[in-house]
Amino acid sequence: MNILDVSKLSVGFPSRKGMIHAVNDVSFQLFDNEILGIIGESGSGKSVTVKAIMRLHRIPPTVVKAEHMIFEGKELLTLPEPEMTALRGNRISMIFQNPMSAFNPIMRLGDQIGEVLISHKARMGRKEREEAVVQAFEEVGITNPHVRMRQYPYEFSGGMLQRAMIASALIARPSVLLADEPTTGLDVTIQEQILQLIRSLRDRNGMSVVFITHDLSLLAGFADRIIIMYAGCIVEQGLVDEIFYSPLHPYTKGLLLSIPSASSDREADLFQIKGQPPDPHERAAGCPFYERCDARRKECSLFRPAEIAVTETHKVSCFAAGSGKEAADV
Ligand SMILES: Nc1ncnc2c1ncn2[C@@H]1O[C@H](COP(=O)(O)OP(=O)(O)OP(=O)(O)O)[C@@H](O)[C@H]1O
Ligand SMILES: [Mg+2]
Repeated sequence: MNILDVSKLSVGFPSRKGMIHAVNDVSFQLFDNEILGIIGESGSGKSVTVKAIMRLHRIPPTVVKAEHMIFEGKELLTLPEPEMTALRGNRISMIFQNPMSAFNPIMRLGDQIGEVLISHKARMGRKEREEAVVQAFEEVGITNPHVRMRQYPYEFSGGMLQRAMIASALIARPSVLLADEPTTGLDVTIQEQILQLIRSLRDRNGMSVVFITHDLSLLAGFADRIIIMYAGCIVEQGLVDEIFYSPLHPYTKGLLLSIPSASSDREADLFQIKGQPPDPHERAAGCPFYERCDARRKECSLFRPAEIAVTETHKVSCFAAGSGKEAADV
């Protein structure tokens, strides 16, 4: 069963140079209890996509369009704002990419995090709420939680604040967690601890996770499925093994080749995809990867390839991959 079903989501930002097409016709589902990784280079539309699900874009000026965006049977596109507020932080919560901007600088962290519980679990008393914050801090490895919860954001280091944000996102035990690069900038041991926490909450309480990252290798042992975004489009999606062992899109293949392996740690050995992503002001008729693609053909510049289902779970938007020729050499 899916808990979230997004169909043909597009997000545009008007600018003086014209519309910035940040997300173009993105469709995907999030299933019960799964960890879905979203990967793509900077500017590919990962954050804009999850913010659209949380309805965090200011409309207008931002233009958000979709066929539907259904969460637990509710159409998020038209849900009245009070009901949306009741979902946010409670049923669906988000870990933001920039923890500093997510907290109120003049409010104690424990009070801010506890606020989620005031609004959603009205019957919880102060003492109980404080206990919940202490427990949430302990879960993410914040030591001295009784002291820490009385501190302000500026008294926390970046990494600590990141953990406080994760605590805040998880405290109400949401059914969907949208985690936008939650471990970027944290050292490896803490990163591993946080991945384990997310996984154990998923296993114990049931939770579906969208996990955004730049790091494809991190997803290998962590995610169930992976979506690959390029220039605001989903170019490929599939189970972790399908992406790692039978990638079909030339961009996915390039990403896999650029993962440093244990045997080649020299920068010079790393494969780099040449060229730049297209200007988001210009929405070309053809495939967004055309300019950088080694396998391109004439039709690729004329038409955008439709998504082809190679298996029930593995889908790709590429003319070359669909012909069987590409599929044979993977
Ligand atoms: N509020 C905004 N106004 C105008 N353009 C925006 C706004 N937010 C995002 N964009 C543009 O939308 C595109 C997608 O941005 P997004 O933040 O989703 O990228 P991302 O994949 O999350 O990148 P990163 O990995 O760097 O976080 C980019 O071209 C970005 O400049
Ligand atoms: Mg982002």
